[in-house]
Amino acid sequence: MIHKAVANPNIALIKYWGKVNEQLNLPATASISMTLDIFPTTTTVEISENLNQDQVSLNDKVASESFSVAVSRFLDLVRTRAGTESRAIVQTHNSVPTAAGLASSASGFAALALAASKAYGLELNPSQLSALARRGSGSASRSIFPGYAIWNLGEDDTSFARPLPKPQLELALVVVVLNAREKKISSRAAMNLTRDTSPFYDAWLASSKRDLQDFQTAFTGNNFTAIGQIVERNALRMHATSLGANPPVRYLSAESFAVLDYLEELRGQGLAGYATMDAGPNVKVLCQSTQRQELQRILAERFAHANVYTCRPGLGARYESC
Ligand code: PMV
Repeated sequence: MIHKAVANPNIALIKYWGKVNEQLNLPATASISMTLDIFPTTTTVEISENLNQDQVSLNDKVASESFSVAVSRFLDLVRTRAGTESRAIVQTHNSVPTAAGLASSASGFAALALAASKAYGLELNPSQLSALARRGSGSASRSIFPGYAIWNLGEDDTSFARPLPKPQLELALVVVVLNAREKKISSRAAMNLTRDTSPFYDAWLASSKRDLQDFQTAFTGNNFTAIGQIVERNALRMHATSLGANPPVRYLSAESFAVLDYLEELRGQGLAGYATMDAGPNVKVLCQSTQRQELQRILAERFAHANVYTCRPGLGARYESC
């Protein structure tokens, strides 16, 4: 039987940056995200008794060695829990355009966690599913849920995301893809390097705690300006602690800062967007839904070679039997 699951990417509004346990992907900072309504990953898992290793494909082609190893390691976790050694055929389709520069590990591991747990007969509640997805990629724990999710600290079984109540505010993101090339250093390696070498790391941990609290107050109070300011400063602080690493981790480019400058100018004109950036130079602009199309238009005009997308809060991971 083929088990199919679909999950969407998410963008952190309060970042996860730093681990207390690398093997278990236990975070040093709690994080809050928006699951997007674009670029879903669809994954099917079919157990096959005739295989002696997993067969993994990505977008209809045999997957690379590193992708296949990551999938098989994840399946090993599921197999151990299910008490079986049966191998599986795994087919993944990412709908995110190659040039989008949006990480697909969150949607990928969320979809794989759901399809694989069903295929191997594990009965997981959403918290358990989120904790399982976390083992593939920390941020995948949040893509299990629709809309907004918070991923708290915790131990192996207690570090999972949960949904946040929908605010009255209708928020949106405008994604400005300046450069879709592969990142220079993986987030996993960069987080560890930052933790081990940046003199600003402890300050990052302390300020991230405050940002999280301030965000929750602003979010429940539907205070868009405060939300935007907190989101932008939290992202810049994540990049600041990374810049302090040895050797420095530089994800942002001059053009990322040009977008930030332009957003500041636009805010002065009543078009309110606030930036957040992850492990790459691309800028995601948080705005109110009513202004998303205008912001998309004006940013696409100014940064003419960029791909600019808009999105809103989207669905969590879903299972489709076939
Ligand atoms: O889950 P990972 O290992 O891909 O790390 C995600 C790191 C950031 O995207 C920069 C922040 C986040 O919270 O998603």
